[in-house]
Amino acid sequence: MAESLPRYDRRQTYQWNYEQPPPPVEIEIPPMAGEWSFCGRRVSSPLGIAAGPLLNGGWCLYYASLGFDVVTYKTVRGVERECYAPPNLQPVSCADLHGGESRLPASETMQGSWAVSFGMPSKSPDVWRADIEQTRKQLPGEKLLSVSVVGTVQPGWGLEDLAQDYARCAKWALDAGADCIETNFSCPNVATCDGQLYQQPEAARVVAQCVRQSIGQTPYLAKIGHVASADEARPFLESVQEYVDALATTNSVAATVADSQGNLMFERQKRGICGAATLEASLAQVAMFARHIQDMQADVTLIGVGGVGAWAHAARYLAAGAEAVHLASAAMVNPLVGIEIRRDFSASAV
Ligand SMILES: Cc1cc2nc3c(=O)[nH]c(=O)nc-3n(C[C@H](O)[C@H](O)[C@H](O)COP(=O)(O)O)c2cc1C
Repeated sequence: MAESLPRYDRRQTYQWNYEQPPPPVEIEIPPMAGEWSFCGRRVSSPLGIAAGPLLNGGWCLYYASLGFDVVTYKTVRGVERECYAPPNLQPVSCADLHGGESRLPASETMQGSWAVSFGMPSKSPDVWRADIEQTRKQLPGEKLLSVSVVGTVQPGWGLEDLAQDYARCAKWALDAGADCIETNFSCPNVATCDGQLYQQPEAARVVAQCVRQSIGQTPYLAKIGHVASADEARPFLESVQEYVDALATTNSVAATVADSQGNLMFERQKRGICGAATLEASLAQVAMFARHIQDMQADVTLIGVGGVGAWAHAARYLAAGAEAVHLASAAMVNPLVGIEIRRDFSASAV
């Protein structure tokens, strides 16, 4: 069954995959008993899809039909942006990553982790706004549609302009029907400052405040990247805690990748490594933020992202202090992973 379900085809282009969202499936979804919430909203499970794999509304509806209760519409921009040239998903062969690694060997086959290199492409706002509106209408009422947005630096812009751009996209997404807004504060694949706001607490504060003003009380998440130390985590949290409801962590762990001849790929630049190899680092990061949140008595929840491919992983995130877990790589490779997690959850509860 797993083999027969359609999924993202990494050997095809981004545009090809954009145009081929599989139709929703009719399949029995095992319930996850318990009380689950997401940014203050009740949900039927702690399972969601992170920003990225759901290229448009069709992909959101497909994964919603596969047992995911929060579906995140991939990061969109205020201007159209092309996808980087392939490879966009380059499997790598590596053990657990903790930051600072380089020259990861590329692999022919997916062994659980890959370098992600899309460059945050986006359709033009008129396209994604109309698509979000249609998607919210078709999504079952109890499921949440979260939309990830990012600002796009233009020549001559300062921080205030970037913040306004984030806020404008957030408001457009909200007006189109988004239940939650996520701002992407971390993309290791782009060189401009919009890629690394999570490492600039004061800039992140300006953006988060502007976004909050534009979306009112709507649940608001900030997506962050790998933080090297507890000392770095605290100033960021202090800067944004007044404005965000949740932090989604971790985007990826950045590293360079070498091809089979030993040459560095991606013009020798780092790429975000996503998937199984980031599980331990991301879990440690959730636990670290959970301690800070407790110390500061901050009203912020955590969404665990990174390397989840089984109920055992999700359970560890929940135990570390996350209120929900979001999957990307494992769900792209195996669309049935949500259903498998639900079955294993029920079996573990017996
Ligand atoms: C194909 C793909 C595209 C992604 N695109 C985005 C994106 O547009 N915005 C974002 O915040 N994260 C993006 N990510 C990162 C994921 O949201 C997630 O943080 C990361 O994949 C770690 O989860 P995983 O180990 O389950 O893959 C992308 C990941 C993948 C695999």
